Amino acid sequence: MAGPPASLSARDVGSFAYLSIKDRSPQILTKAIDTLHRHKSEFFEKHGEKGLEAEKKAISLLSKLRNELQTDKPIVPLVEKFVDTDIWNQYLEYQQSLLNESDGKPRWFLSPWLFVECYMYRRIHEAIIQSPPIDDFDIFKELKDQNFFESQESVIALCTHLQELRKTIEDLDENQLKNEFLKVLQISLWGNKCDLSLSGGEHISQKTNIMNSLEDLKPFILVNDMDRLWSLLSNCKKTREEESVTRVDIVLDNSGFELITDLVLADFLLSSKLATKIHFYGKTIPWFVSDTTIHDFNWTIKQLKHSNNKWVSQCGVDWEDHIKTGRWVYLDHIFWTLPHEFSAMSQVAPDLYAALQKAHLIFFKGDLNYRKLTGDRRWEFTIPFHEALSGFHPAPLCSIRTLKAEVQVGLQPGQGEQLTASEPNWLTTGKYGVFQFDGPL
Ligand code: F6P
Ligand code: MG
Repeated sequence: MAGPPASLSARDVGSFAYLSIKDRSPQILTKAIDTLHRHKSEFFEKHGEKGLEAEKKAISLLSKLRNELQTDKPIVPLVEKFVDTDIWNQYLEYQQSLLNESDGKPRWFLSPWLFVECYMYRRIHEAIIQSPPIDDFDIFKELKDQNFFESQESVIALCTHLQELRKTIEDLDENQLKNEFLKVLQISLWGNKCDLSLSGGEHISQKTNIMNSLEDLKPFILVNDMDRLWSLLSNCKKTREEESVTRVDIVLDNSGFELITDLVLADFLLSSKLATKIHFYGKTIPWFVSDTTIHDFNWTIKQLKHSNNKWVSQCGVDWEDHIKTGRWVYLDHIFWTLPHEFSAMSQVAPDLYAALQKAHLIFFKGDLNYRKLTGDRRWEFTIPFHEALSGFHPAPLCSIRTLKAEVQVGLQPGQGEQLTASEPNWLTTGKYGVFQFDGPL
């Protein structure tokens, strides 16, 4: 039997992976350097001369990284001791073992894109932790916060919708409840347009009320398994015995507007009793510019709570309460910031795999999670999603993702080709989305 197809890589000149490494990654590093510069006086006020020295050191480490990338130097092992350093360095050795002798060492424009891109974010983190006393600085924090503030109008609209809905939710019939469920799912999907790594750190926020666009956006959902999600959860609700738990896990993606859409979805699942418990998974370190860390998660809820808008602040209060009472649980795990595809999870992070197995349904938000689900490979468009998961089946799962990388599976015959003919960049602009489910029929 033939093995899985090759990984996406910048060795394919002209591919999106190639353009990402060539243009977008250096741009992100330049922005990171600029951010450090701009915080110089803040570092000085906080730490005096030591703060200034640390800023210089972090900048020189990041400039070095940018130079290594742009001149296609070999990928070097991580040096600073951290919880995941050994795993990273073993993974680098593994990448080396995959190469032919003539290829030499793993390099930026040769190795799998997923690996080198993750490695870049891990090296950014290394530059920061090597520069105490500013070693807890999140270079991307202000971008994430800005995205949140710029999306205020949409945040208010969503929170208002949710609070109004909560008042009458008990009175809705099956059909009405299903319709509301489909709405919050779509909101969470389109929330994924707002990530900041695709734009090289340029602002993308949700300036208009997304609720008004759902109908117009429907034609852009290429795989739509929403009905299967409804069947699964409404069945759990019907057959659930008192005191027993229906747990939905959400593997989060971006902070800012997308996070709000995910929290709205999570609140709806509880209010509608489609679920009784939600586990959220975030990142332990700043990741792919806008991904959610525990600080972003807590900061966001606090911001909502202190909002002048009564519905928004009500959401903040309710969500804090969900956390206090344990109906919402935020968890992190180093696996989410490793370069491995998810099919390796049961080997590399068996504890995490075992934890996910206890969920009734897992949502994987966003493009990077999709790339890791499918191994970021050059699959044919029509390969079934189940097959592309390569053995990763901890529980029924669904990817909720807008397309921002050249990997897509589970399409109808001819669907991908047709899109390519009419819109050559359909895979990478975030315009299209999927709800792609894997689980029992
Ligand atoms: O493709 C652009 C990109 O930066 C990819 O590297 C990555 O897969 C994606 O955007 C991040 O998007 P998301 O936040 O949806 O995971
Ligand atoms: Mg992201």
